[in-house]
This record gives sequence, structure tokens and C-alpha cells, in this order.
Amino acid sequence: MLSRVCFDMLKMMEYTALVQRLFELAEPYLRVRGDLPHARVSHRYALRLLAEEGGEAGIVEPAVILHDVGWSQLTPEQIRMAFGVRAGGEEAERLNRIHEREGADIARRILASLNYPPPWIDRIAALIERHDSGKMADSLEEKILKDADKLWRFSKEGYWQEIARQRLERDELYRFLAVRYRQWFFTPTAVRLAEEALKERGKEISGEVTSNKRKTCGEF
Ligand SMILES: [Fe+2]
Ligand SMILES: [Fe+2]
Repeated sequence: MLSRVCFDMLKMMEYTALVQRLFELAEPYLRVRGDLPHARVSHRYALRLLAEEGGEAGIVEPAVILHDVGWSQLTPEQIRMAFGVRAGGEEAERLNRIHEREGADIARRILASLNYPPPWIDRIAALIERHDSGKMADSLEEKILKDADKLWRFSKEGYWQEIARQRLERDELYRFLAVRYRQWFFTPTAVRLAEEALKERGKEISGEVTSNKRKTCGEF
């Protein structure tokens, strides 16, 4: 019994070190668009969704951490055109597809360097390659990736960072999210988390909460 517990703990420590290493290897790519906070917050949401919805963490966690490394292959001007509340049109879509494809290639290289099992690399790369453009989700892991990615914008850190990054009015993103969130999410947990977060963002926008820097332990 004791050796079984030790074995499980060792595996858990190895896995925790792997997740940490993934963040380190992704960071140079994520830095280009300032996406490290996005990856960290989405990863925390993914852990919450995995706990409540199930799913394979060994697929979801690397996919969430690495899903936006492909933005590093576009220029700042192209990134502005491709992403955000005001982006749209064929060119935005073309550029968005580039960040998905390039991201899948970079993720493959990073995961291969860590000796990740090839069939798992294939699954993760396939999820990254359509994380924005794919309207459907074929697996629970894909649902969780897409939901965790979108939940970022509802989080305190994500909301206010996107307001600054996209140069939006304080309530512009709120109005965008409040209309769209019902069609976005695949899991009931994500819908619930989005609704809870929207209530909080609404209070911050109306001035009920004066400091958007105030944060309690464990809050996204
Ligand atoms: Fe993306
Ligand atoms: Fe993303």
C-alpha cells in the first residue's frame, strides 16, 4: 500500500514538473502577444472544468498551455487585424487560421522534445489546429479546451487586459460577451462560471467594486 502511494506521488510530481516545463517552453512564443497570463488563467479554468466535467488531463492541459503559441508567427499588425471584438472578415479569418496551424506545428515540436507519446501529440495538435475555427467539438477534451480559452475573457484579469489590449470602452467587451456567451460554451460548468464572472465584471464596470486590482485568493 505504501509503495503504491509513493508511486502515485512520484507520478504526480513528475506530471506537475511536466506542466511547469510546458509553460517554460511556451513562454517565448506566448510573450509575443502577451499571452502568458491568458495561458495561465485558461489553464486554471481547464483544471476546474476537468474536475467537474471529467476528461483526459494529459490531453487538455498541454493543449490549453500551448494553444496560442502560433500568434508568435504573425506581425503585431496582423495580430491586431485577426483578433478581437472589432476583428472580422476574410483576412481576419485567414490570419486566425495561420495562428492555429503554426501553433499546432510548434506544439508538436515542444511535445516531441519532452518525449510525449506520439498518438497524444497528434490529438493535442489536432485540437490546437481548430481551437478557434472549429465550431463543433468532437470530444470532451476539445470542449474543455474551447471553453477554457473563452472563459479567459470573463475572468477579472482577462477582461481588463482585453479592454486595454483592444482599446475598448469599459463596458464594450461586457456587452459583447453577454450576448454571445450562451452560444459559445459546450459544458454546463463553463456556462455557470461565465455567468458568475459576468456578474462580477458588471459590478466593476458600474463602480460597485472600485478597484479592479482587488482580488481574493483562488479568484480567476
Ligand atoms: Fe487562439
Ligand atoms: Fe486563446
